[in-house]
Amino acid sequence: MSRRSRRVVDAIVWLNNEIIKCCDWPRSLPYFAVKVGILCFFGKEWTATLVDMKISVITLFPEPIKSYMSESMMWKAQDQKLLELELVNLRDFGEGERRTVDDTPYGGGDGMLLKAEPVVTAIESVKKENSRVILLSPQGKRFVQRDAQRLSAEKHLILVCGRYEGFDERIRSFVDEQISVGDYVLTGGEIPAMAVIDSVVRLIPGVLGGENSAKEESFADGRTLEYPHYTRPPEFRGMKVPDVLISGNHERIAKWRSDQATKRTDELHNNQ
Ligand SMILES: C[S@@+](CC[C@H](N)C(=O)[O-])C[C@H]1O[C@@H](n2cnc3c(N)ncnc32)[C@H](O)[C@@H]1O
Repeated sequence: MSRRSRRVVDAIVWLNNEIIKCCDWPRSLPYFAVKVGILCFFGKEWTATLVDMKISVITLFPEPIKSYMSESMMWKAQDQKLLELELVNLRDFGEGERRTVDDTPYGGGDGMLLKAEPVVTAIESVKKENSRVILLSPQGKRFVQRDAQRLSAEKHLILVCGRYEGFDERIRSFVDEQISVGDYVLTGGEIPAMAVIDSVVRLIPGVLGGENSAKEESFADGRTLEYPHYTRPPEFRGMKVPDVLISGNHERIAKWRSDQATKRTDELHNNQ
């Protein structure tokens, strides 16, 4: 049973007990009313504990993330309360009338840097005891499937998206880890944040549906690629579906898939 289902069952048991107590009506009515009042008062916090994971994204450009997260599996995860997404606009933490978040680098050089104060204040505004703060940076550790698996067990992720020439170096002292999505430079941290969120959220139990889907995918064990897939028609532009896949022999199919996965993996690693 998932953490979420357990909490729902606990809540139902509690309510049921309260209703039974109300058989002693009306003497226990005030007692029941007080309890329901307390529940309503702390309802928001309590509801939040029903969500399996919360992800807060600190960004100057929330719109692309909002748009991406309102489709398909990412939307389903939120709709089913498996994920709560919080978009924090860094501009709200800017300084002065113009809500400034950037400044020129000491020592000279091109471009602007995100200032420490707005970024750190934004982090502190959402950080809780169980939060893990991640800075998206091309200088971070390369993100792999193992990291997605590790992060999918967290309760609250805070992703900090950079812009311009990057950050004031001191911001790094306020994060738990730095993640890079590859050895190339993007304009901002929003695309890396979306890549991290997507790969993590699809691993939350219940998001993909078939609980084995993620276990059988490429890199699930940190290395092996998935076997090739085919769907109808049986022949496409002269290319036929391998006979074994339409043989109905599950043992042979499993062996063929395992051999193909090994072959693909070896080819990839030999080419790197
Ligand atoms: C233009 S980049 C800054 C690059 C920085 N001047 C450097 O050379 O390391 C602006 C922001 O985009 C994000 N970013 C760019 N490429 C990234 C990558 N490969 N992985 C993660 N984040 C990246 C980071 O948040 C970064 O602070």
